[in-house]
Amino acid sequence: MKLIARPGAPLSGEAAIPGDKSCSHRALILGALAAGETQITGLLESDDVLATARALEAFGVSFRRSGGAWIVHGGPWQSPPDAIDCGNSGTSVRLLMGAVAGMPGLRATFTGDDSLSERPMKRVTAPLERMGAIIDGGDRLPISIEGARLGGIEHRNVPASAQVKSAILLAGLGTSAPVSIVEPWPSRDHTEIMFAQFGCPVAVDDTPDGWVISLGGHRDLTGCKLAIGADPSAAAFPLVAAAITPGSDVMVPGMLVNPLRSGLYETLEAMGADIELSNERIQSGEILADVRVRHASLSPCHVRAEQIPAMIDEIPALAIACAFADGESIIEGLGELRIKESDRLGAIVTGLTACGVNAIADGDKLRIFGRGQVRGGSAISTQGDHRIAMAFAALGLAAEQPVEVDDAEMIGTSFPGFVEVMKSIGADIG
Ligand code: S3P
Repeated sequence: MKLIARPGAPLSGEAAIPGDKSCSHRALILGALAAGETQITGLLESDDVLATARALEAFGVSFRRSGGAWIVHGGPWQSPPDAIDCGNSGTSVRLLMGAVAGMPGLRATFTGDDSLSERPMKRVTAPLERMGAIIDGGDRLPISIEGARLGGIEHRNVPASAQVKSAILLAGLGTSAPVSIVEPWPSRDHTEIMFAQFGCPVAVDDTPDGWVISLGGHRDLTGCKLAIGADPSAAAFPLVAAAITPGSDVMVPGMLVNPLRSGLYETLEAMGADIELSNERIQSGEILADVRVRHASLSPCHVRAEQIPAMIDEIPALAIACAFADGESIIEGLGELRIKESDRLGAIVTGLTACGVNAIADGDKLRIFGRGQVRGGSAISTQGDHRIAMAFAALGLAAEQPVEVDDAEMIGTSFPGFVEVMKSIGADIG
């Protein structure tokens, strides 16, 4: 299914962004591990999150829908008879492996689509194996894992990966031994925040060695009510489109503004974007705000490696903003982008070049030479990557000529309804 984004009128109005993907995976998994019932509202019903829900059903966990809420009944997990297919979703497989590791005798095999089967898994299985889990497989799926009576661990999380940290914390629920993770730069902390919502506090200490995240003595989860805020990674596309399309004024209500996810927005502000936050509040332990972006002319940015974890999924959107800035932008520390849902660094450079923007990958650095306006007028290969598809659709709305994205189907992994939401704020897309 192709998607064409055409330059047109300014974008305006409220964009209804679905729930955060990271929080949605965690809400289902923690609910499935907790005693009693968990009620979740605002769950993102995208292919990736539904892969987690299906996997949990295969472990014997049951869900019920009531109005807009998902009701999860935690309980003992059973070994599924068949392999669990996690589709395109790295978060599903990496977090679920952690959960399985802490349950002695539970055994499961994980598979995924072609993209997920190319992505590294040793970063998760190696620490789980050190804790005592039994792993059958190498760095790539399929991998089988058997839970065991685990020992403790002190794991240095480099590069700072929230999926690795979360897998270790989930495994740690199955042991009383000391479990801690040291991060030189903090990765997203949704697992820590959500553990506390389930009655299991996680300590976070700022030490000379870095951030030390550790489980305490109390490691039981109790079912709770969770409300998930709008996903800043999905909102990135309409909000960047607003920032680069003259005359635009777009608002996303109830967006997660957790500082460990806000790197894109901080960088856009430093580039001169007109961003306004209002109605800040705490919901289920996370900070939410209504976020309004109006068009402004942008200056280039220089992003350093230590800033990347807070915007790791937003680099395609940021690259589009840089293409519309006037001057050379440099984004450092992008090695991890080579092993996301596609080689994202390569896909960004190829796509920008096709749209008439001078961009190069220089080692793990991205250099984009913006000229304030972009030609567009090309067909983009998404390489099966949802965020590449949405980023270049946003570019097409503000370029001189339309942009065609070759395969928009993968957008459903993270943002079902993307096209409808963009149309609702006036985008000429379809
Ligand atoms: C995620 C963490 C990040 C991010 C991914 C979701 C999570 O991956 O890119 O989309 O929910 O924990 P890493 O842990 O590999 O950085």
